[in-house]
Amino acid sequence: MADTDGIKEAKNFYTDRPQETEGFFLKGSNSLDWGIKNRLARIFNPVSGRTVMLAIDHGYFQGPTTGLERVDINILPLMPYADTLMLTRGILRSVVPPSTSRSIVLRVSGGASILKELSNEDIAVDIEESIRLNVCAMAVQVFIGGEYEKQSIINMTRMVDIGNRYGIPTLAVTAVGKDMARDAKYFQLACRICAELGAHYIKTYYVEKDFDTVTASCPVPIVMAGGKKIPELDALTMAYNAVQQGASGVDMGRNIFQSDAPVAMIQAVRAVVHDNMTPAAALDLYNTLKGRG
Ligand code: R5P
Repeated sequence: MADTDGIKEAKNFYTDRPQETEGFFLKGSNSLDWGIKNRLARIFNPVSGRTVMLAIDHGYFQGPTTGLERVDINILPLMPYADTLMLTRGILRSVVPPSTSRSIVLRVSGGASILKELSNEDIAVDIEESIRLNVCAMAVQVFIGGEYEKQSIINMTRMVDIGNRYGIPTLAVTAVGKDMARDAKYFQLACRICAELGAHYIKTYYVEKDFDTVTASCPVPIVMAGGKKIPELDALTMAYNAVQQGASGVDMGRNIFQSDAPVAMIQAVRAVVHDNMTPAAALDLYNTLKGRG
């Protein structure tokens, strides 16, 4: 067991000095195989180096949540503005037209519901399904500090091993238990564990204080999780701060599809992520697009 006595608190994250990336545009990804790089380049825009992922996988543990009652009606109109859709194979096969050119990140962990302990997940999709569905990454929930922490970490490492065999990246999604502190120290821990154990990129929450230390200490790309619905300006500000502090984009759900004007909101988020538009200008864009109906 590692000696945890005497761990020093003072750390230097060199937040003003981005990690060097040789050859391939994505942080920490240069030594990956061609197929994995090619799939990542379909998720992350090679020009901006960032992504707008639209997360609509909520139903896998919470059923038809607000805004996702009818994916065909509410979500398909948003697809042209997303770089990537994050969803389950059930929704992909039943609702999403196979003619889409959007990249797909497939939710592959599952087995828990909001009625029981959420961290009690397993791998719920065979690798052959990911290959058959031509997905660009597989998403696994990781519950650092959760009741089934080890099980969820091993779910993730298994998918990294299998995905590496077939050239499919793994996205580790850091889930936070209700009673846990959501601070930079926790997310440094969670993201670094996922990266050290092989995740190709990581979805994690934004924190007001020291988010740049979370991105700096994670050697692979981080995408910001959206979280519960907040006012549009706040969501745009959070996305702006996250990318300015080193996130390689966002993976947002409710703050887009629960907005009063989801098509306008996703375009405003795109402007923040890909064009560095300020939150105030992005809110103007949102209101203008909303006004056009
Ligand atoms: C669970 O934690 C999932 O990843 C969610 O279903 C989803 O991706 C969360 O998106 P948001 O918090 O932006 O609604």
